Amino acid sequence: MKIGIIGAGAIGQTYAKLWNAAGHNILLSSRNLEKLTPIVDDIGPAVQAGTPAEAAKFGEAVLLAVNYWTLDQAIAAIRPHVSGKLVIDATNPLRRKDGGGIERTIGGDQIAGLILAAKLPEARIAKALTTLWTGHVERHADPAAPKTAMPFAADAPEDRETVARLVTDAGLVPVSLGTVARSRPLDPPSPIWNLVLTPDEVETRVEAFRRAEAA
Ligand SMILES: NC(=O)c1ccc[n+]([C@@H]2O[C@H](COP(=O)([O-])OP(=O)(O)OC[C@H]3O[C@@H](n4cnc5c(N)ncnc54)[C@H](OP(=O)(O)O)[C@@H]3O)[C@@H](O)[C@H]2O)c1
Repeated sequence: MKIGIIGAGAIGQTYAKLWNAAGHNILLSSRNLEKLTPIVDDIGPAVQAGTPAEAAKFGEAVLLAVNYWTLDQAIAAIRPHVSGKLVIDATNPLRRKDGGGIERTIGGDQIAGLILAAKLPEARIAKALTTLWTGHVERHADPAAPKTAMPFAADAPEDRETVARLVTDAGLVPVSLGTVARSRPLDPPSPIWNLVLTPDEVETRVEAFRRAEAA
């Protein structure tokens, strides 16, 4: 599959490597082509470098992997090119606090995937890859015997199938949480965020989280 990746940091590079190894065609992008060229050369000859607009044009699916504070800028760059396409949103609604630490940037009752869907109504949004630190992914992704869960959400069954395949191709076990409207557990804070869990552990924790939210 042709995948355009917006953002060439920890997430962009990690999944570019894993998906390239699984046979996908990748165009990795950032705002700074000079910085990007050696990164892409390092990943392998089949991976291309380009601008965010070029990555959005290139991809049958587009992975959004920028920091939340530059998300609107990334959306503006890709928006003309993602109509009808699957946009997989890996971003977490976080910012760095003055004096250290991180904090959520959206309201407690808001869902990041729905905010993105409102900003990019012409695209099909999936929320995925948000809950696992890339250090965990690198250590636990095992295409030969995947056992680490990667929960995700998408609205259309065919998009859930595509995301599940890409998660599997990255060596992880896909766990669907349903539609994007039900993707709150994929945003921090949540009992499945930044943890290495099995599929059963994800399902149990999500169920308990949803019960507590509904109470
Ligand atoms: N790191 C993790 O383990 C992890 C895990 C799950 C989810 N996430 C989420 O994934 C997102 C990316 O995290 P990260 O750790 O990969 O961040 P990162 O290492 O800081 O990389 C962000 C990348 O995005 C690029 N970028 C910034 N603004 C851009 C724009 N407008 N258009 C195109 N590229 C842009 C940056 O390069 P330039 O400045 O050169 O453009 C940089 O390559 C965040 O929302 C994070 O919360 C991260």
